[in-house]
Amino acid sequence: MRKFVVAVVGATGAVGEEMIEILKEVDFPISELVPLASSRSAGGTVEFGEKEWTVSELTEDSFSEFGVEIALFSAGGSISEKYAPYAVEAGAVVIDNTSHFRMEKDIPLVVPEVNPDDIFDWRNRGIIANPNCSTIQMVQVLKPLQKYGLERVDVSTYQATSGAGKEAMEELGNQMKDFFEFKLDKSPHEQFPHQIALNVIPQIDKFMESDYTKEEEKMIFETQKILGMDLPVSATCVRVPTLRGHGESVTVRFADEVDADEVRELLRVSPNLIVVDEPEESAYPMPVVATGKDETFVGRIRSDLYDKRILHLWIVADNLRVGAATNAVRIAQKWIEEQV
Ligand SMILES: NC(=O)c1ccc[n+]([C@@H]2O[C@H](COP(=O)([O-])OP(=O)(O)OC[C@H]3O[C@@H](n4cnc5c(N)ncnc54)[C@H](OP(=O)(O)O)[C@@H]3O)[C@@H](O)[C@H]2O)c1
Repeated sequence: MRKFVVAVVGATGAVGEEMIEILKEVDFPISELVPLASSRSAGGTVEFGEKEWTVSELTEDSFSEFGVEIALFSAGGSISEKYAPYAVEAGAVVIDNTSHFRMEKDIPLVVPEVNPDDIFDWRNRGIIANPNCSTIQMVQVLKPLQKYGLERVDVSTYQATSGAGKEAMEELGNQMKDFFEFKLDKSPHEQFPHQIALNVIPQIDKFMESDYTKEEEKMIFETQKILGMDLPVSATCVRVPTLRGHGESVTVRFADEVDADEVRELLRVSPNLIVVDEPEESAYPMPVVATGKDETFVGRIRSDLYDKRILHLWIVADNLRVGAATNAVRIAQKWIEEQV
């Protein structure tokens, strides 16, 4: 089997580390791993395939120097903006986890369970975008429901601190520690606009002209692009003091009445979804259940009390895996199928 030179840009970050772990788990056909990060981490090492690979500083020449064929980017939007074109120029396909290219018309935005064939549009620009973490887990569930005629989606999210990166997780940890030392009021907050420990913050990213936040707009417009329809969506994105695993309370309105039992059975057989829905046993998806998993968990599936065209669901997935690294690796696997 052909093997590939794979670069992970942001290899030392929350998503990058998970990406390398998943590449190991799926036995990805790698001839050479190229971990790239900033000068801060250069010289460190990453274990992969019984070997240690040295982290190099990302430069304009990194991709041509190492002969990179697949470049998995997760080091921030401005890094992708600047360096993805160098990777493409060096002949690599870029799979980008940041929001930078997602809404560009000629860049495919892909969730393999939903719009796998869009991957082939990578030939336009050499770049495939990975959607926002909250979008991925929601569209995986909406896709099978599309057959009932989606009319509108309203979602409120409960997003873990790891969604904002490693330092954000550390900030929660430090504030928890300060709480037990009775000095939470003096604990610094740099990663979030307010204290996150023992709090919830109804703001993720900056506010836009629409009065929605950028994160909320991502969920709205990315969902429409991936599903290929002008679906009315409204989102309220909230940061909660958990470490890993985003929760979503989703309300969907359909063209006709839908039966919750039928939906439960349909979702049970849909790809990479696990239905956990036994309320009498207090069994439903939770971040602690989804952490470290590559599936999206759905539960609390119920019809609206007043309108049988409306269904309510609760969705949880590991944001670092399903919402980022797993999706990117699945895209890469699909891309490889086309090459061999
Ligand atoms: N966290 C999530 O759930 C999630 C989900 C989907 C998408 N994303 C996106 O993925 C990206 C990374 O997120 P993260 O959570 O992994 O962040 P993170 O934990 O803060 O890691 C950032 C990574 O980027 C590297 N980096 C920073 N500046 C760099 C530079 N100038 N040159 C090269 N590398 C640089 C860092 O390297 P050093 O160690 O050298 O600083 C580190 O490896 C972001 O764009 C984020 O929006 C995150």
